[in-house]
Amino acid sequence: MVATRIVSLDDSDLYYIPETLKPGINGIDFSLFLPMVGMMTNKAMNCFKKDGPEGYGYDEMPPEVIDILDARTADPDTTVKALTVPVMEHTRSLTTILDLGCGAGHISRALSKCFPGPDIYAVDYCEVAITKALSKTQDVKNVKFLKENVTSLPAAWTRKFDWVILYDVLHDLPDHVNAMKEVDRVLKNDGVASIVDPDVHSKHRDNIGNNNVAGVGFALSALICLPCSLSTDGASGHGVGWGSENKEQFLTSSGWRVKDKRNIGDTKIVLPYRHGSRIVYYPDTFLDIIIQINWTDFP
Ligand SMILES: C[S@@+](CC[C@H](N)C(=O)[O-])C[C@H]1O[C@@H](n2cnc3c(N)ncnc32)[C@H](O)[C@@H]1O
Repeated sequence: MVATRIVSLDDSDLYYIPETLKPGINGIDFSLFLPMVGMMTNKAMNCFKKDGPEGYGYDEMPPEVIDILDARTADPDTTVKALTVPVMEHTRSLTTILDLGCGAGHISRALSKCFPGPDIYAVDYCEVAITKALSKTQDVKNVKFLKENVTSLPAAWTRKFDWVILYDVLHDLPDHVNAMKEVDRVLKNDGVASIVDPDVHSKHRDNIGNNNVAGVGFALSALICLPCSLSTDGASGHGVGWGSENKEQFLTSSGWRVKDKRNIGDTKIVLPYRHGSRIVYYPDTFLDIIIQINWTDFP
């Protein structure tokens, strides 16, 4: 770990975590995750065997993984507020919100606090996630947790939602193409979609020296994200290494448009366009936020 600079040594040979690794370390409680690592490593190693599975989904992971992920955002209220700002710039009103791949619901609960009025639907294909989410939200009135697959949402949801959120989900999906088709279908014509995903370069050479990607991105992706995105026949196999540039290329080539990109607090903007659809894109320290806006009279 010291040799790769994932852990550093000070002048008196004390070990410390370098500042550059802290965004990712702070993003998940690794002390809770450590007991899972042995179990998950064995599962991941099986995928390398000739006759082994190609991957595994969340419903095949230890149920504690869902709890760890649910606890990883120290302040989900602030995260939701950060997500909300650009959405409210372009949206007249929010009456229906969809949290896709909601896990045990930490973002859904924060959404409910921030938006007590709208109907919030939160879906995940993993039974354990939905059961945990339900047990944590007994006093939350406007969130419906449902077991659904992102790639085949209910037919009755066509053009139902003002805002669709995929928080740390897109790079996990074995079938991102059909998932984004479904997002497009369930969004109202003037709806907005936000995608929060790891901020890693697709050209892996460009990640050299990024301890955060090496120490946190690799560990989580190898055991969780990559196996999940390999968990069905014909799966995409992306994981965290898919990277922001390739993700953006996929989105734009399938008809979505990048409206702008910015780091929260440090704005960079690009403006490629297609009719009708726009994406606002926010790379954060470890997570990107990409916001697609179907907003016909957007300037
Ligand atoms: C990294 S977790 C993020 C969970 C939650 N959004 C959060 O931030 O805590 C990814 C989630 O996506 C869900 N997921 C993966 N593939 C899915 C699919 N095809 N349909 C619905 N949910 C899916 C997993 O079960 C898991 O809960």
